[in-house]
Amino acid sequence: TDGPTILGIETSCDETAAAVVRRGVDGRAIILSNVVLSQIAEHQAFGGVVPEIAARAHVEALDGIIRAALDDADLGLGAVDAIAATIGPGLVGGLLVGAMTGKVIAAARGLPFIGVNHLEGHALSPRLSDGLAYPYLLLLVSGGHSQILLVSGLGDYERWGSTIDDALGEAFDKTAKLLSLPHPGGPNVEAMAAKGDATRFALPRPMKGEARLDFSFSGLKTALRLVAEAHAPLVDQDVADLCASFQRAAAETVADRIRRALARFRERFPEIAQPVLGVAGGVGANADIRAALKAECESAGARLVAPPAALCADNGAMIAYAGLERVEAGRTDPLDVAVRSRWPL
Ligand code: KG4
Ligand code: ZN
Repeated sequence: TDGPTILGIETSCDETAAAVVRRGVDGRAIILSNVVLSQIAEHQAFGGVVPEIAARAHVEALDGIIRAALDDADLGLGAVDAIAATIGPGLVGGLLVGAMTGKVIAAARGLPFIGVNHLEGHALSPRLSDGLAYPYLLLLVSGGHSQILLVSGLGDYERWGSTIDDALGEAFDKTAKLLSLPHPGGPNVEAMAAKGDATRFALPRPMKGEARLDFSFSGLKTALRLVAEAHAPLVDQDVADLCASFQRAAAETVADRIRRALARFRERFPEIAQPVLGVAGGVGANADIRAALKAECESAGARLVAPPAALCADNGAMIAYAGLERVEAGRTDPLDVAVRSRWPL
């Protein structure tokens, strides 16, 4: 018979999301629905996410998004076995909206509640999309985080590298801002880069060749700003070439770190014939970065698990799935569990 069915709620940043995920008879997780409402339009005029606007938008949208997730799954709440909601890290106002809503549903229906770490949601998303086994390497690249993690089991994460300054998504977003492209930067930089020449501007590959697995993107950002200033006023082709050059530098930088991480994984787990690299976070949707990772995995005899873009970016399915693994492990939370703006894995 089927395993548990989980309703997941995600409100930590600027997407209001809900999803229903079930453990199927064959042991694989099934995404029964995955509804995401982006607040991009609300924040666009401000060039970034405004916490107070985000929280209010979550309040207005969340009930309808949960209703839509249940409708898409063709289920009533009676078929749901537990409620999972992101309780951190993120913007506290939004976290409170999602956590309170999830707790109220759990209390009213007498269901278990799971307060999910958003980063754990990202970290487990390759298991949701692929069913891969522990342990695996994870590259998490989002607007707030750039990390290389060893994922050994549920709740068992070792951080092998992180950024010493900007997150990769943040670097994309700042590049977009500098070049007057709309927020959020990543998809717009990628679209412009497709029309550009990645070899026109020589930008640095920060940390390349260094033994430790950390990232740094502020030097790349500064180099880009200096090139942009030197070529002002920029015409469209300059912007496209700058985007392409930046994206190539970012992809090569990430590939270099991953090469080292895969080598370290091999040393640690010599018995694993084919290591797996999972990708998560909004930047994981970037085709150039995915291609660079694929090439790196191929030459290292590893397998790349890059979930579809909708599961890389913030979504409710990854939260429901983290809740599913936690329910199966008997690790649910009391209803007074608190939200946390900062919460490293
Ligand atoms: O995981 P996510 O949706 O939210 C966070 O938890 O941060 O990631 C959002 C980040 C933003 O910085 C956005 O610009 C970036 O992911 N992003 C991309 C692409 N799509 C989203 N960066 C590069 N290329 C993309 N196609
Ligand atoms: Zn995220």
